[in-house]
Amino acid sequence: MNLDFSQVIPHIPFLLQGIGVTLQFVSVALILGLVLGIVLAVFKIGRFRVLRFLANAYTSVFRGTPLILQLSIIYFGPPQFGLEISAYVAGVLAFGLNSAAYVSEIIRAGVQAVDKGQKEAAAALGIPYRSMMFKVILPQAFRNILPALFNEFINLTKESAIVSIIGVMDLMRRAQVLNAQIYRYFEALLIVGLIYYLLVMILTIIGRLIERRLQRSD
Ligand code: ARG
Repeated sequence: MNLDFSQVIPHIPFLLQGIGVTLQFVSVALILGLVLGIVLAVFKIGRFRVLRFLANAYTSVFRGTPLILQLSIIYFGPPQFGLEISAYVAGVLAFGLNSAAYVSEIIRAGVQAVDKGQKEAAAALGIPYRSMMFKVILPQAFRNILPALFNEFINLTKESAIVSIIGVMDLMRRAQVLNAQIYRYFEALLIVGLIYYLLVMILTIIGRLIERRLQRSD
């Protein structure tokens, strides 16, 4: 075995720049996923059957097919119809649309996990649906939802390495570019692996702090 980091060291700043790209990419995708996920969750909880059906079908399709396939369709598909789409935009779209399916389930489950006695009590008091939702149910659901959303953030951070296949210069892609330049694979991949791990650990710690904070407010 000849691990030799000497050739990789000068390129470490190049690798580190990927942290910003990855985090920014994931944040934008997560926000898109959150907005769309909330809409889908409202449809799922609501009483309109058609909307409920559509939201469930959406979730089923996006969770039932590989993310790498969805990404490929969104990036390689449109040019066939004369619509150029940048790798970054395609990536954010694919991850955002995919995440929305997961986020909508997180919210739906979080809301439906609130004890139904709360809803009954609000109804008995004559509290209108809207106030009941915003003042009684959602504040309690929030406690189930936030930690799970943070988990989604962590998942997306790891899954984001897939965008490297369409050329977004994220952490993973930078390792591949470096591999091809200096013909050393193990070293750059090891460094990038360590960076991903540290990112995930930091996010995990923040997530735990938030969770503890929420429990304290119980
Ligand atoms: N790797 C899986 C896939 O290819 C999971 C995607 C996870 N997505 C998410 N938003 N949590 O489908």
